[in-house]
Amino acid sequence: MGDVLAIVSQKGGVGKTTTVVNLAAAFARRGLKTLVVDVDPQGSVRYGVGLRRDQRNAGFADYLNGQKSLREVILPTALPWLRVILAGSVSDDADHVTYQQLIAETSILPDLLETARARCHVVVVDTPPGLGAITRCVLGASQHVIVPLQCEPLALQTTPQILRGIQDVVATNEELMLDGILMTMFEAGNPASERVVDYVRRHLPANIVFDTVIPRTVATADAFAAGQPVVLRSPADAASQAYIDLANQLIDRFL
Ligand SMILES: Nc1ncnc2c1ncn2[C@@H]1O[C@H](COP(=O)(O)OP(=O)(O)OP(=O)(O)O)[C@@H](O)[C@H]1O
Ligand SMILES: [Mg+2]
Repeated sequence: MGDVLAIVSQKGGVGKTTTVVNLAAAFARRGLKTLVVDVDPQGSVRYGVGLRRDQRNAGFADYLNGQKSLREVILPTALPWLRVILAGSVSDDADHVTYQQLIAETSILPDLLETARARCHVVVVDTPPGLGAITRCVLGASQHVIVPLQCEPLALQTTPQILRGIQDVVATNEELMLDGILMTMFEAGNPASERVVDYVRRHLPANIVFDTVIPRTVATADAFAAGQPVVLRSPADAASQAYIDLANQLIDRFL
């Protein structure tokens, strides 16, 4: 039985999707059978996970509404051990109400994660920003959660909120473990960025903050624009090395 790892944050644009695709690629490179599931209606995983253009079609939303079978929505990637379920047609719709209702009112999502877990070593789930119904549903079916925190001043305001939210969910899902807060987009030499790292290290318990910090690098942004995880496109890049290092630490915890 594998583990479900959710990547969640209160704030948007903090590096969740980047973390999802790069951790997943790093797990798969180590030979772990890995599945990415994108439940964020924005559907950004499709741009960064390394798919051919003609594959960017059906996904989780189409399985959720009964239009597609599970087999039809699990897509192969450039890595033999990495598969992906994209968000699907919901990312082309302006209206996400039905999608959210189906998630909130059925057990399709937790059942899917449970099935996936039985067949994979690790299932990495990308979530929308905030602790809404979709993210809560994912956390209810996860064993692990990582909270990316962007190294910029505003990030600090939202961290207590997400920690409280996770505590609420941990209370209802005793299997769920907060693996840690992951500081992302760190810029060495930038005082604002360094203040965030200092503050977090001083104010939060060391066991819930990863020592590994993800630097902001040009290669990471370029890789996303080119549609690939940076760990595959530029493995020697500092952000790639940080993601690979983090994946190795997590593998030791998971297996
Ligand atoms: N380490 C990094 N170095 C450089 N750019 C980065 C890094 N991490 C993320 N980015 C860039 O920051 C932007 C936001 O990242 P990402 O899409 O992963 O955030 P997100 O939390 O998933 O956003 P959303 O809440 O909208 O889903 C993207 O353009 C991404 O390429
Ligand atoms: Mg995202």
